[in-house]
Amino acid sequence: MSATSLYPVSPEAAAQSLTDEATYKAMYQQSVVNPDGFWREQAERIDWIKPFTQVKQTSFDDHHVDIKWFADGTLNVAANCLDRHLETRGDEIAIIWEGDDPAEHREITYRELHHEVSKFANALRGQDVHRGDVVTLYMPMVPEVAVAMLACARIGAIHSVVFGGFSPEALAGRIIDGNSKVVITADEGLRGGKRVPLKANVDEALTNPQTRCVQKIIVVRRTGGDIRWHPHRDIWYEDLMRVAGDVCAPKEMGAEEPLFILYTSGSTGKPKGVLHTSGGYLLYAALTHERVFDYRPGEIYWCTADVGWITGHSYILYGPLANGATTLIYEGVPNYPDVTRIAKIVDKHQVNILYTAPTAIRSMMAEGPAAMEGADGSSLRLLGTVGEPINPEAWHWYYETVGKSHCPIVDTWWQTETGGILISPLPGATALKPGSATRPFFGIVPGLVDNLGNLLEGATEGNLVILDSWPGQMRGIYRDHDRFVDTYFKTFRGMYFTGDGARRDEDGYYWITGRVDDVLNVSGHRMGTAEIESAMVAHRKVAEAAVVGVPHPLKGQGIYVYVTLVAGEEPSDQLRQELQQWVRKEIGPIAVPDAIQWAPGLPKTRSGKIMRRILRKIATDEYDALGDISTLADPGVVPQLIETHKKMS
Ligand code: PRX
Repeated sequence: MSATSLYPVSPEAAAQSLTDEATYKAMYQQSVVNPDGFWREQAERIDWIKPFTQVKQTSFDDHHVDIKWFADGTLNVAANCLDRHLETRGDEIAIIWEGDDPAEHREITYRELHHEVSKFANALRGQDVHRGDVVTLYMPMVPEVAVAMLACARIGAIHSVVFGGFSPEALAGRIIDGNSKVVITADEGLRGGKRVPLKANVDEALTNPQTRCVQKIIVVRRTGGDIRWHPHRDIWYEDLMRVAGDVCAPKEMGAEEPLFILYTSGSTGKPKGVLHTSGGYLLYAALTHERVFDYRPGEIYWCTADVGWITGHSYILYGPLANGATTLIYEGVPNYPDVTRIAKIVDKHQVNILYTAPTAIRSMMAEGPAAMEGADGSSLRLLGTVGEPINPEAWHWYYETVGKSHCPIVDTWWQTETGGILISPLPGATALKPGSATRPFFGIVPGLVDNLGNLLEGATEGNLVILDSWPGQMRGIYRDHDRFVDTYFKTFRGMYFTGDGARRDEDGYYWITGRVDDVLNVSGHRMGTAEIESAMVAHRKVAEAAVVGVPHPLKGQGIYVYVTLVAGEEPSDQLRQELQQWVRKEIGPIAVPDAIQWAPGLPKTRSGKIMRRILRKIATDEYDALGDISTLADPGVVPQLIETHKKMS
């Protein structure tokens, strides 16, 4: 590394931060040498109802994978996020809500939030929702989404939040998999001045006969727009709240009882219901939130993610609220009404810590200085990024233009499965290198392995694995333990496989290079190639489809699809648009292909496996690096594909 690309910790930052270099080293050492002792001590930050006696009972052995933390302890997650703060900071702001329309905002204190959550928890009970039941949330970014999640946690129901940008088909799949009893939604969402037909989408999802498990739909009135109403099934949130009692004792939950499921894409099959439980998850979310963001009481913290993703769960809601922080929830999109919106929100609410995604940074950067025009930004102290590798150019722009060269950037690497941040700088301890997520958090033992699973030493590159458990780790795939074991513990036996590749440099810093499996990362949204392919082939004119990721200047990766049509169908621009619309309907706008290439056939091995490697090279114009194609079942398709691709570009 050249000296210029190293950003050392300033002495003032080290002195003011929770964690300086010596503290990091000592705590990290203790956390990996004596995990039981370390986590027993850290677990004191949680209010346990019944204290645990055992800390860590975990096995990554693929014959009996089992992950339990604090198993005999009991707690209530909502009480940890609300009740215990009432005495000390009941009148402080828990949530600042900023509407899509810049004229709208609200502030909600811990006491008010506690009141709302208790009432809605009673309302849910009144709808026959009990401990262990799954409640699906398909909601806009309004305070009620936080109320609903915490109300579930209060009564021991399991929430399953589905991103509001997913289609009715995708929503139905998740409702069915969770066997959900109740769906909570809004009449419409509001994003970038446009209305999102959430209730209508739920209605459409429920036309699928397999969704009969759903008994009630609870609807928050957001826009007052016209919606269809089914009196036996639909209930207004406001009507329930009007009559609900405001005292609701939090349910005593086992540390290993489920808190939520959240669906995420893998390299094969349908999205998986990642299961997180209560004690370990909350502890890990809270500790990482405090240490990685170096959170100081009274500060305003803003994570721009949607609550439909894990980032929203751990770092808009659970981590910050468990720490008694003020968390900002923004309803809209970064560029509405214009590209200065993020900067304007920072100034308006005097945000101290801003946590966003490289894709948002790149779209601001694309506007040149306009994104920061008229902005002061002096409240900012720390910046964070998540979701995809950040290119050094975007890193520098973020650092210099948004952070005015005095805010450290924490590049946080983690996954839906990990519950919280695993690799990241700590602002008072870690010298920064643009593009590197740097070093492991406490208790995290990363490793790099070759394709045979041999652990590699020193400065090297390989598949990123984690060698031991941590409290925030997923506990399983909802009702599919075998798939859990197969997906994460079989590729490299005895290790948790992340699906990512990484490089480790001479300072022991990690540089995430991206997915090594068939998973795409489009604008920080994770998508399986298999998922998009199966949506494509569900169209009656499509015989076969293969999806690959290609570099994209704003989105990180774009979606490139090769399509073989059924005999008798002719390619046309109209059909191309039809297929794009089709994917939008099957999955949602985030999965719409950026490019569709018509293919007379696909390169396959003689056993019928599609050679994506070759397709990826063609899509990125790397015709000379195709490797040996003579072993293909029909090598002749390759030159044809190259020719069509050249004509397209
Ligand atoms: O490939 C990595 C990428 O996002 C994947 C996880 O996606 P998801 O489960 O949707 O969670 C995203 C938010 C935690 C990872 O396997 N990823 C996430 N953060 C980073 C990253 N890649 C590089 N650098 C990061 N900081």
